[in-house]
Amino acid sequence: MIGLFDSGHGGLTIFRTLVGRFPDHDFVYLGDHANAPYGNRGSSEIVDLTRKGVELLYSRGCKLVMLACNTASAVACRTLQRDWLPVTDYPGHNVLGVVAPMVEAATQTPWAVTSPQYPQKFNSDTIAVFGTTRTISSGVYSEEIRKRCPKVTVLELPCPELAGAIEVGAGEADLNAMVAKYVGQLMERAGGYAPERVILGCTHFPLIEEIFVAHLPPVSRILSQPEVVADSLEDYLARHPAYGGETSTRGNPTLLTTGNLDHVSQSLEMFWPQGQGFERVE
Ligand code: DGL
Repeated sequence: MIGLFDSGHGGLTIFRTLVGRFPDHDFVYLGDHANAPYGNRGSSEIVDLTRKGVELLYSRGCKLVMLACNTASAVACRTLQRDWLPVTDYPGHNVLGVVAPMVEAATQTPWAVTSPQYPQKFNSDTIAVFGTTRTISSGVYSEEIRKRCPKVTVLELPCPELAGAIEVGAGEADLNAMVAKYVGQLMERAGGYAPERVILGCTHFPLIEEIFVAHLPPVSRILSQPEVVADSLEDYLARHPAYGGETSTRGNPTLLTTGNLDHVSQSLEMFWPQGQGFERVE
């Protein structure tokens, strides 16, 4: 069974893609709605909340948990993998994030390769990254991209209000105005130059991808995080088959929330209409 963890609803953009792509796998989703949004929280708080979420999913039988949240991936994934998992009682368990697959796709370089290789060594594209304040301040996207592509210009834009606005179902006009402002800031920093590629580095943002498309220059190609993550998981499961298989909940994956059941179930319609509703957990 594979668990997905997010601060709230955003990870459902990854979840719904994985459920469609891997019909022979069981998935469980946990949204920490009680503590969302994570994007403006401090790092130790995010590590702590993410660890609790991962442990809850492990206790539900998930041996593999994906942090379907860029903020949790940027801030907590490495700490959990390197410092926490090795000293806990979870042998044979793992945790993955969504930043690594995006860096691989953006740099066309495997994660394990951490020095510039030809031809990426000479790539001089511009890559834009939109994310929460915490994801951007972690610097993880630019650090990891530039390790592999030192000539690439990485423009990282914090979007402090956007995930929260999507989470509460803000109207189209408000979302439009916010995205226009963030894209305007990007273009100012880029000196009018259109970035070749764009990473929507927050799992909430694919829900309003068309608004980004409307404001970005037509030549800027958005790397689809749900698709990139699904490709990366397919490759990971092929190399680690012990994490896959045995479906018992096919078509009806469990959705868990720490939040208010009425409130989160109402907005589920907007994110994943096929969902059968959330179950509340502490
Ligand atoms: N969906 C999350 C992400 O990918 C974070 C949203 C939030 O909780 O601020 O960054």
